[in-house]
Amino acid sequence: MPITYNKRLNQFHLCNDSLSYIIEIREHKYVTHVYYGKRIESFDHAGAYPDVARASFSPNPAGFEGTSLSLNTILQECPGTDTGDYREGLAEFTFADGTTAFNFTYDGYEIRKGKEPLPGLPSTYVEGDDEADTLVLSVSDTVRKVGAQLTYTIYRARPVVTRSVSYVNNGTAPVRLDKALSMCVDFDDADFDLLQMPGEWASEKQLKRDHLSNGVHVLESRRGASSVAQQPFMALMRPHADEFQGDVYGFHFVYSGNFRFVAQVDPFQQTRVLGGINPFNFGWRLEAGQRFQTPEMVMVYTDSGLNAMSQAFHDLYRRRLARGEYRDAQRPVLINNWETTYFDFDEERILALAKKAKAIGVEQFVLDDGWFGHRDDDHSSLGDWVTNERKLPHGLKHLAEAIEAEGLKFGLWFEPEMISEDSDLFRAHPDWHLHVPGYPSSKGRDQLILDFSRQEVRDEIFAQMTAILDEVPVSYIKWDMNRNMTEVGSAGRSAHDQLQTSHRYILGLYEFLDRLTKRYPHILFENCSGGAGRFDPGMSYYMPQSWTSDNTDSFERLRIQHATSMIFPPVMMCAQLSESPNDQVGRITSLSSRAAVSMSANFGIMMDLTRKSQAELDELATYISAYKEVRSLVQFGDFYRLLSPFDGNYGCWEFVDAVRTRGRLMFFQVLSHASKPWVRLRLRGLERGGTYEVAYAGSTRKERFSGAELMEYGLYLNHDLEGDFAAKVVDFSLVEGSF
Ligand code: GLA
Repeated sequence: MPITYNKRLNQFHLCNDSLSYIIEIREHKYVTHVYYGKRIESFDHAGAYPDVARASFSPNPAGFEGTSLSLNTILQECPGTDTGDYREGLAEFTFADGTTAFNFTYDGYEIRKGKEPLPGLPSTYVEGDDEADTLVLSVSDTVRKVGAQLTYTIYRARPVVTRSVSYVNNGTAPVRLDKALSMCVDFDDADFDLLQMPGEWASEKQLKRDHLSNGVHVLESRRGASSVAQQPFMALMRPHADEFQGDVYGFHFVYSGNFRFVAQVDPFQQTRVLGGINPFNFGWRLEAGQRFQTPEMVMVYTDSGLNAMSQAFHDLYRRRLARGEYRDAQRPVLINNWETTYFDFDEERILALAKKAKAIGVEQFVLDDGWFGHRDDDHSSLGDWVTNERKLPHGLKHLAEAIEAEGLKFGLWFEPEMISEDSDLFRAHPDWHLHVPGYPSSKGRDQLILDFSRQEVRDEIFAQMTAILDEVPVSYIKWDMNRNMTEVGSAGRSAHDQLQTSHRYILGLYEFLDRLTKRYPHILFENCSGGAGRFDPGMSYYMPQSWTSDNTDSFERLRIQHATSMIFPPVMMCAQLSESPNDQVGRITSLSSRAAVSMSANFGIMMDLTRKSQAELDELATYISAYKEVRSLVQFGDFYRLLSPFDGNYGCWEFVDAVRTRGRLMFFQVLSHASKPWVRLRLRGLERGGTYEVAYAGSTRKERFSGAELMEYGLYLNHDLEGDFAAKVVDFSLVEGSF
């Protein structure tokens, strides 16, 4: 049984083949943490955490006789505020009397089979109750009359525990919930490195790893979106841990708005990890009996390094976060017109591009920004989702049908959450954007943010979008979001509920996406926010793929895709091959190396095919047909990072199918050097006793090796690579198995 309650020890043990998570109720009331790590088959330590006074400045809880217990030093699951634990707490309230002290103590538990969805929120799921088990601990403060349900789900066959909290006002007077985190994990030591993914526009997810030291380390977004600046992710890893060995604890928040992660090392060298909605610009008035449900935190533990952590996230997100018709379906090769035309296109130009795209094997056309209102640049028309008849005089339906007649599917760009001041919608509803009345509104890309916390605002945009989608054969939507929040106020909310706005916005967005994806189950959605500005598991629940970055330079992409793969599988990343010199960084790279990077995720093209020579078109056609041959492997195989472009001059990724019969290496050289050291690389995930045929793209060379040979000795990869930014593609397939 994956969750057991040991009455004698007053302990709960969540356990599967990989991990154990142990909670103990101390003194019959304090919900304390005992252990999180590698599976312990049976656990018999009673009250193992040493029961001695640690320091005189650590207070003892009211009603406790003696000095051996302090909330400031013990390991806790749901630490309160202002009651003796000076570390950061899980929650904060302001009570009717204006004070904040409270502490949750244990009331009871329930163990259930399966996993429940979270109302109104995205979350990981199960398809049968035998996939996971759930523990719900009820805690409360009987004086303050507030409580919480702490929910833990352990998957039976994944190294995954998920957490969320539902807070409740049990009293008769309203209270304000000022901080409502989803998770606290206390470790009794601090020998960790912290891995994070800071970034910026066109430079998303730059991996950073530092040793943890004392104090409070915060990773957060205050931008109203999960943002480019930080991914809602944190990993703690043992200093010796690397890609393939060592303890790694990954935490990823299934939410698309403001978040806060804390790693706090206390004076006793204990580490507290907290995560959830950012208390910044947040406050939730709970009337008597009302509840607040937090989003979900996904926790992955492995003793086998970062690669195993990533594979656990990949498989969970691919199969039990993403949903809909496209979850298990191969994704189309697409062309997007953005970098080719920007705003400057008409029907003729789009059709010419589509015709060329079809000829080289592209399957999906995506018409980007500029098809609506009177939008010729980024200063107008957001909010007016009606066809721009000057550019498309025969209408969108006509264009879509013409593209379908060419043999391509038709897709469309929307930025539904935004409004331009120069729009009919703004003229009709000048208070429908997030703003503080009487205070000037900051602009981002010359646009304002529609107040998606309001139902009537969402309904208007929904009506505009459905008017198009009901008429035009759209099979793909790129949903964009190109600025972050400022002056977060809602004209639809009274003064004491203003601090609900940024979270209600995200709930409104989820409600909208739920409606839209249910109404159009055949549409494949691409999540975009000026690149990966909101590429998070919350959005991935509704949209199974995301634009990985506006930076399409293949060698910048090498790093961005490498870091993205820490948490997201390749099938969730859109990677379009673009022009050289590159539009963002001006770098000149070969078509083959650009293709290799794009072919390592969901392949697409963002090039002006109407200006390419026949030789270039033929070369592109070769890549597309080669990609189609390995598409299921790349999109649904196991993914390994063998060499990191963050660590040196090379990057290498490996894809292996589930039954180990087929694989592919993508090897990248950043700069070419004379007298360079050879790179001999060991492969992963093969059948040791099988014989594999190894084929090198662009050459007739073929060799045969055993799986053991490839995994222990490996292959020399860089000796015959010439030039900067060069790539080598190696395929292997099982010719004789030991099955
Ligand atoms: C954002 C997206 C781009 C493109 C433009 C259109 O920057 O990331 O891919 O769609 O908007 O304005």
